[in-house]
Amino acid sequence: MSWDERFADLYDEWASEMTEDVAFYVELAHETDGPLVELAVGSGRVAIPLAQAAGRPVVGIDTSPAMLAQARERAEAAGVELHLREGDMRELELDEPVGLVYCPYRALLHLPTWADRRRTFERVAASLRSGGRFAWNAFAFDHAIAARLDGLHQDEPVGHSLRYAVGDNRIDITLDGGGTSSLWWATKNEWLGLIDVAGLEVEALYGGFEREPFTEDSREYVWVARRPK
Ligand SMILES: C[S@@+](CC[C@H](N)C(=O)[O-])C[C@H]1O[C@@H](n2cnc3c(N)ncnc32)[C@H](O)[C@@H]1O
Repeated sequence: MSWDERFADLYDEWASEMTEDVAFYVELAHETDGPLVELAVGSGRVAIPLAQAAGRPVVGIDTSPAMLAQARERAEAAGVELHLREGDMRELELDEPVGLVYCPYRALLHLPTWADRRRTFERVAASLRSGGRFAWNAFAFDHAIAARLDGLHQDEPVGHSLRYAVGDNRIDITLDGGGTSSLWWATKNEWLGLIDVAGLEVEALYGGFEREPFTEDSREYVWVARRPK
């Protein structure tokens, strides 16, 4: 498993620097009617404000009982309806096709192999109604950043060390107190291949959450794909 439960206790601090994505996903929710689905919902960081803004429940799927417990508690405190399910995004199955499936904060990178991602994209495509959208973001690998950070200890946002296993396109994040979570980076062509094999089409590729154009210098892929009409 690429997500270590020991990250759950520190997740608020870990994610404290990631805030600019919420408005982007909220806007997509406003543009869609019907049920909304978040893959790897975690603590509800995005799902709760999104459900609040859209005035509709969000179906949230995650493999981590500890993260789901946080999401449940927060949703209750915020008076928001989330339909939380313990499950693996590779096995996504919904009762009815939906207009929006989204996966923030690079969570698709927790899937180790192309086959895992292909399976996920196929399950998402099967869960979208005609014209329905799949949106996600992921960092673009930057060898200069990797060279700078490989083996480095960082205090912020919580004490951790990074290791770049380049041959496996993997980053291992190890917390000071123990616990390693891994991310497998993907190239633009891998994302395009996944969209293609799942029978989806690209609606937009942005270089950031303000919908900036994606350029050769962009460091974040912000994708919106859709099921063709
Ligand atoms: C970085 S957190 C993202 C949480 C949330 N989406 C957010 O934006 O704050 C990654 C989450 O992915 C979940 N996860 C990892 N692999 C998964 C899988 N195969 N299926 C569903 N959830 C998974 C972890 O349990 C964890 O909650």
